[in-house]
Amino acid sequence: MCGIIGFTGCGRAKDVLLSGLSALEYRGYDSAGISCFTGDGKITTIKSVGKVSKLKTQVPEEFSSTCGIGHTRWATHGGVSQANAHPHSCGRVTLIHNGIIENYLCLRDELSATGRTPVSGTDSEIAAMLIDSLYTGDARAAIAAAAARLEGAYAFCILFSDQPEKIYCIRKGSPLVACQTKMGSIIASDMVALLRYSKDYFVLEEDLIACLTHDEITVTTLDGRTVAPDYLTVTWDVSSAQKNGFNHYMEKEIHEQPDALLRTITPRLVKYVENGESYMLPDFTADGIPDSLFLGLSRIVITACGTAMHAGMMGKILFEELLHIPVTVDIASEFRYQNPILSEDTLVITVSQSGETADTLAALRLATESGARTLSIVNVKGSSIARESAHVFYTHAGPEIAVASTKAYTAQLAAFYMIAFRAAFAARRLSIGECAEYTKGLSLMIPALTKVLERGEEFAAISRHLIKATDLFFIGRGMDYALSCEGSIKLKEITYIHSEAYAAGELKHGTLSLIAPDVPVIALATQHNVLAKMVSNIKEVRARGAFVILVAAKDAGIEPELYDFCIELPETSDRFAPFTAAAVLQLIAYHTSFLRGLDVDQPRHLAKSVTVE
Ligand code: F6R
Repeated sequence: MCGIIGFTGCGRAKDVLLSGLSALEYRGYDSAGISCFTGDGKITTIKSVGKVSKLKTQVPEEFSSTCGIGHTRWATHGGVSQANAHPHSCGRVTLIHNGIIENYLCLRDELSATGRTPVSGTDSEIAAMLIDSLYTGDARAAIAAAAARLEGAYAFCILFSDQPEKIYCIRKGSPLVACQTKMGSIIASDMVALLRYSKDYFVLEEDLIACLTHDEITVTTLDGRTVAPDYLTVTWDVSSAQKNGFNHYMEKEIHEQPDALLRTITPRLVKYVENGESYMLPDFTADGIPDSLFLGLSRIVITACGTAMHAGMMGKILFEELLHIPVTVDIASEFRYQNPILSEDTLVITVSQSGETADTLAALRLATESGARTLSIVNVKGSSIARESAHVFYTHAGPEIAVASTKAYTAQLAAFYMIAFRAAFAARRLSIGECAEYTKGLSLMIPALTKVLERGEEFAAISRHLIKATDLFFIGRGMDYALSCEGSIKLKEITYIHSEAYAAGELKHGTLSLIAPDVPVIALATQHNVLAKMVSNIKEVRARGAFVILVAAKDAGIEPELYDFCIELPETSDRFAPFTAAAVLQLIAYHTSFLRGLDVDQPRHLAKSVTVE
């Protein structure tokens, strides 16, 4: 949802801003622009529709500046056009914005009456007009006064033409992280843009104003009191945010899954000794998650968006089986509007890779206000959801750059498995031996997943049969249905092929009418308890001529007449098949997109981090 960056220091602003924008491009790529001080208080703006690579060709090599701001846009208010590209200027103010100003229409009418006429269709330009109208030489006072008028979400980096070499910043809802280096001060939407300069950074808290100069970053409250920021350190390095020889980030991130899962699982395995026997169990003491969080619960509510919600669907199956507590999974954007029943014996689990998804954050806030217990499964350290949740389980998947989520998803699954095992042990629904056995199964899944990743060519060959498809169906039961939902979103977001996930038994209640000769159906048959029923459902689509790609347990023994291709998964217990099957579906989506000649990492209209509601 737009990437923003600001730099002031002794280096070349152009280089820092453009390389930072490339790193942030996963957040939006409709248009890009920079504004820099270029001498005598002059601010030069260069912007264009299209990707950062296009902007780079328009910024002259000799462009000289040591202070500026840059933006890569995901369009919300106003279409994709040169006029709507950021930065926006009004009077002495030039700014970039990530977020949505909800009351921009009434502000626009009010400000137009003072003779300021917007030239774009954006809410961001109205914010520039507002700050300019309130500016009388004291930047902090103008920003604080504007913040009192603005409704919605924002992260701003602001230049005042009469304050050269300074950048002012404020945020509400949308993220901003900053670091101080020998070269100067840098602020951006995400740590990936800062990583090549520093591993130490701080999150700018909401309702604080940061002022960046060459030598320091001063943070103050809205009424001017200085605040010392809390610095954090990232544990990954710059190579984690690069392609490292892979063609695309998505391909690289798919292959990083075994390592990501090791990082999520291994540090949380702790040796317990009972009656002279040792057991390795999930233990969240180091995460500050007490067993009491899982005791005395009347229900669990899981809420998230997209892929993270699909991980939650798997969590529901695990919790209901192991804890015997009712679990609901809610789309975060619907959650607040359906009067959820929340009390202190409800555990609300929010799931988010970025930790910044606006709807998930809003759901968490509602849960907190309602007195429910809160636990978040989050990848990005220090993100808003992590900071506002009473308890956090970090997935440690490392930076995920491709818009399509892969390693973050399987790390979220691993988190749910570990939490379900530990909670069932804490609630005495699993003995120590059972809990250790289940946990061992989770660790053993990692080598099985590695084997699947070595079979990329096999999946690429199958993908060749999908490139001409216009519609495609995923079917499965139980865990396979939850995974079908994930397979479907992965395929459609990067291949633009329309696809739907169906609980296999539900097809005959309407959707079977869409199955025609050669329509591809990806059928998941990894769960032995529903295998016979699943076979009947595959027969139903096969009888209508579907082109069937079967993803099945090794010993499923499904008759060859029922499929065109069969992908046999390595042996794991059924419970852990979603990990290996997820990798198969990710690779099929990846190869299909690649073979269709599409932009795998940056599919049209999408953005990685959805910080608007
Ligand atoms: C799909 C995808 C999205 C995200 C969703 C939530 O591949 O990545 O569906 O899962 O936008 O994002 P986070 O997890 O950052 O809250």
